[in-house]
Amino acid sequence: MSYLVTENCISCKFQDCVEVCPVDCFHEGMNMLVIDAEECIDCSLCVPECEAEAIIEDCDDNGTQWADFNSKYTQLWPVITGMGAALVDAQEYMNTEGKLENHFDPRPGNGG
Ligand code: SF4
Ligand code: F3S
Repeated sequence: MSYLVTENCISCKFQDCVEVCPVDCFHEGMNMLVIDAEECIDCSLCVPECEAEAIIEDCDDNGTQWADFNSKYTQLWPVITGMGAALVDAQEYMNTEGKLENHFDPRPGNGG
């Protein structure tokens, strides 16, 4: 089992999750993060830290879709271990629908 980042993270990227993860398993894209399921130790510490409620368990109803997504971008994006600033429009995007289709940026973030 592991935890996964979902669509709600897109264009928010609050990063409080990074601060609490004991094993540094988040990877950074331009406007969202993903979790490396191979590294995640299922501690669940990140879940309540995310105000966008973007983190789910892989046994969730949408788990399969997001497991594939997190696995794909874990390979393409760098590890992030230090919390940076949330995106400037994070609050506006909190309850936006269709973020994966309309706002996802597949480019890697800076990591670090
Ligand atoms: Fe990191 Fe724990 Fe969240 Fe997994 S569940 S990503 S180990 S904080
Ligand atoms: Fe994203 Fe939530 Fe972390 S918005 S960056 S999963 S705190």
